[in-house]
Amino acid sequence: QVAAASGHTVVLVDQSDEILKKSTKGIEESLKRVTKKKFADKPEAGAEFIKKTLKNLTTSTDAASVVHSTDLVIEAIVENLECLSLLYAVYMFLISRHTIFASNTSSLQITKMANATTRQDRFGGLHFFNPVPMMKLVEVIKTPMTSQKTFESLVDFSKAVGKSPVSCKDTPGFIVNRLLVPYMMEAVRLFERGDASKEDIDVAMKLGAGYPMGPFELLDYVGLDTSKYIIDGWHSLEPNNPLFAPSPLLNKLVEEKKLGKKTGEGFYKYK
Ligand code: 3HC
Repeated sequence: QVAAASGHTVVLVDQSDEILKKSTKGIEESLKRVTKKKFADKPEAGAEFIKKTLKNLTTSTDAASVVHSTDLVIEAIVENLECLSLLYAVYMFLISRHTIFASNTSSLQITKMANATTRQDRFGGLHFFNPVPMMKLVEVIKTPMTSQKTFESLVDFSKAVGKSPVSCKDTPGFIVNRLLVPYMMEAVRLFERGDASKEDIDVAMKLGAGYPMGPFELLDYVGLDTSKYIIDGWHSLEPNNPLFAPSPLLNKLVEEKKLGKKTGEGFYKYK
């Protein structure tokens, strides 16, 4: 959405037409929200902006047929290193020489994905934040093998889509998640110990620390499965780090497919 809205030609690729239809609908709704504010007193210009943005955006279920002609591939699939490595190993043969691969992973090592290919110099991380149309930040990740040219292209692209880039080494969680995920897990542990209710913890962090959402609201918003993938990955890297300890309650909710807002229930219930 943000790439298309800033004049880039985008092909959104996913596994089925059904998912793509849902994604496109979500983008249309989000564009309406953005436009309502941006073009508050110019509804015609707003309608034109939406039309132009959607014109820049097409969809496909056949990545192989589109990746060969793209300058930048941004991957945002499940946080599973085997799946990711396989995806990159396959698409490596289909893209052109200059194409840059960028992963939107929240927590996995970019270096490991890059090593599934033979183009480590044209590989980096571009980590966006939910909800992407609103959150101004992008973390640009440079591995030891990422070329300076690739890094600069990723920084330039981030600015071109209206974001503020920061750079970080290829270290678990980069900047934001390395601080945010242990904080959210500590909130779950506080609740698990019975020290406070989840409602009070959320109110406390909103009113006491000025956060726009409490940790349980944010966990539901991000997705409990995503949070679990992140913490499990870090726990396997550093089993003795108490900040990365898994939570029985989080595991139980994921097992029950209560994944947060997207499934209608997580820590809270949604209509
Ligand atoms: N698309 C477009 N606009 C959106 C939107 C979306 N998906 N979601 C919210 N908005 C807009 C609304 O239209 C509204 O615009 P307005 O000011 O013109 O009315 C504005 O955002 C505020 O929305 P709401 O009034 O509905 O609600 P809030 O004031 O509570 O704001 C929020 C919503 C921006 C999501 C705010 O609660 C927030 O900043 N929350 C924290 C989000 C956060 O921490 N994100 C990081 C998550 S971590 C992550 O993503 C990393 C990953 O790797 C795990």
